[in-house]
Amino acid sequence: MTPQAPQGPGPQPADASSPLNSQAGHTDFDALGDAPLGQFFGKRFETVRVFAELLAAEGERRGLIGPRELDRLWERHILNSAAVVPFLREGRIVDVGSGAGLPGLVIAAMLPEREVVLVEPMERRVAWLEEAAATVGLANVVVIRGRAEEVSDAVTADVLTARAVASLDKLIKWCLPLLAPGGQMALLKGRSAADEIDRAKYALRKARLVAHLESAPTLPGLEPTTVVRLTREP
Ligand SMILES: C[S@@+](CC[C@H](N)C(=O)[O-])C[C@H]1O[C@@H](n2cnc3c(N)ncnc32)[C@H](O)[C@@H]1O
Repeated sequence: MTPQAPQGPGPQPADASSPLNSQAGHTDFDALGDAPLGQFFGKRFETVRVFAELLAAEGERRGLIGPRELDRLWERHILNSAAVVPFLREGRIVDVGSGAGLPGLVIAAMLPEREVVLVEPMERRVAWLEEAAATVGLANVVVIRGRAEEVSDAVTADVLTARAVASLDKLIKWCLPLLAPGGQMALLKGRSAADEIDRAKYALRKARLVAHLESAPTLPGLEPTTVVRLTREP
């Protein structure tokens, strides 16, 4: 699997001397800088960093990320995942199609007091998610093997996330039965999010959901991520 960040070609720094253009280092960590990342993640920085380093070390060999992703791991994957955190209402978080742990393990690292359930159908990705959560020391993670549309007996979400898993109309169909009363979805989407909302208008209406298109900034100089929040019709 080579997950694509749902953000298109990513930020294009106009300045060739920008640290974001640096190709030195194994990932873009050095280019982005310890200080801004530390400021962004606060007390949870070390934990997020342990996960990012584990993913950088193991991800390609285990078929979780493509080789080209290593150079932009923080910018395109870790920060892109972290951008959804301000949109997570209280209660149990369920991340559908977690794959490499994006955004699920990043959320769990940032919000250690919240229960985070990861739903993933593929056995070897489930094994990775369990191992990674244990190695990073995330006691708040539960991994469920299965497809979103098949786990409604076992999983209830107060807020449901997904990144690079399926189109909006499919996610609505698969994930609506997982939502608790009053539950919401916060979906990481790419630049075509508005078109996806338009294409999903019948599914939204049928599910009595309202879509809110949100811009989710991370570090200065990086293009904000797009989050589609789905709430119940009043
Ligand atoms: C392209 S990967 C993205 C993984 C991760 N969310 C990311 O952003 O890197 C899509 C993931 O969704 C999972 N998936 C596919 N269909 C699914 C379904 N019906 N329910 C839950 N997960 C599914 C796949 O096994 C895979 O791990």
